[in-house]
Amino acid sequence: MNVAATLTEVTSNNIEAYWMPFTANRQFKSAPRLLVSAKGMYYQSRDGRQILDGTAGLWCVNAGHCRDEIVAAVKAQVETLDYAPAFQMGHPAAFELAARVAALAPGDLDHVFFVNSGSEAVDTALKIALAYHQARGQGSRFRLIGRERGYHGVGFGGIAVGGIVTNRKAFGPSLAADHIAHTHNLEKNAFSRGEPEWGAHLADDLERLVALHDASTIAAVIVEPMAGSTGVLVPPKGYLKRLREICDKHGILLIFDEVITGFGRLGESFAAERFGVLPDMITCAKGLTNATVPMGGVIVRKPVYETFMKAAPEGAIELFHGYTYSGHPLACAAGLATLDVYRKEDLFARARKIAPSFENAVHTLKGTRHVIDVRNIGLVAGIELAPRPGRPTARAFETFLKCFEKGVLIRTTGDTIALSPPLIVSEAEIDRIVQTIGDVVKSVE
Ligand SMILES: Cc1ncc(COP(=O)(O)O)c(C=O)c1O
Repeated sequence: MNVAATLTEVTSNNIEAYWMPFTANRQFKSAPRLLVSAKGMYYQSRDGRQILDGTAGLWCVNAGHCRDEIVAAVKAQVETLDYAPAFQMGHPAAFELAARVAALAPGDLDHVFFVNSGSEAVDTALKIALAYHQARGQGSRFRLIGRERGYHGVGFGGIAVGGIVTNRKAFGPSLAADHIAHTHNLEKNAFSRGEPEWGAHLADDLERLVALHDASTIAAVIVEPMAGSTGVLVPPKGYLKRLREICDKHGILLIFDEVITGFGRLGESFAAERFGVLPDMITCAKGLTNATVPMGGVIVRKPVYETFMKAAPEGAIELFHGYTYSGHPLACAAGLATLDVYRKEDLFARARKIAPSFENAVHTLKGTRHVIDVRNIGLVAGIELAPRPGRPTARAFETFLKCFEKGVLIRTTGDTIALSPPLIVSEAEIDRIVQTIGDVVKSVE
């Protein structure tokens, strides 16, 4: 198939209308980087080059691109049932997918509320937390706690608990929220492999906020078990367990935002399993459908769900929340086919198996000019560069552009290169990604 011929041309006449998300629009439009097709580990750029995907799209294409089984399932679904009303009606695939996701999740995380993105998953989880406390007669718990440097999407709930200043400062105050300290410390933990040794005590910062606000006003704490978007911050050993203990002590719900870490990224279905800590809710998206169709979900523990079922009168709606496209048939078809691929190819175990080679490869960058840290866990790595004096992020962005020119897609956030290849990546592809980064980082000013 001549892919290019099927595409609407992007020309200087029509490039303006699209206001691109999280993009320097003017800069991009002066030299667009366009992808036109994808298969397996590779994108094809509009100028016909194969681009090795070091980032699984945006941390989401865990099984690799355009998987035949997933594409076929979506095609079959769209011909059979395009849409079913999400409220007071259902269709079989939504129930099946929820059951399959619940079976993958650890412990009694056994009910799933479907949404369309990670941001919606986060806002949904925060609303469930607030309404849960109301339902059990503790409506004074209105406050939500996030963490500095946390990313929880871009809804008003997500930016209230998020800890990235650029994502918050233009949008005014929103929910009652506060933040515990982040865990990133290069003096103590630079060049850690896996979970850093130092920093479990940073979870105690939650006690400071309990002392300040009183536990009776705090509904939930939300953290990414491994913070991706602010530069791959791996939790210190014991940190998440301690956070769980403090939440338990004060009756605070613990939410893990697993939009990135869910579905095999750290070698298990969820990071909760990997770290041996059971949260009260997990938010997920991305890898749930291999990004083929947008979808997210909130996985909730049984006692939380049961609280809603018991509190509402018979016949009443228990949670006044939902989206037109919650459990959309196409997303469910993609989700079911994706979970089949993960299972058939044992992709989470594959990620676990190849992770040591990935770790060794990325740590060869230690000692390279500009590299001030390399950190990793599962199939994720952060390579932090010293910022160019007076121009933070410029060195990393230039590295991104040059890697793209050399046929490797990486992602940068601040001055950190974040790698998260599809779980099907080969050792040779890992080597190529790392080699390209090394060559480029050496060459940039
Ligand atoms: C941890 C986390 N939460 C939420 C989101 C938001 O997801 P979405 O962009 O699908 O709204 C992201 C996106 O990267 C994320 O990494």
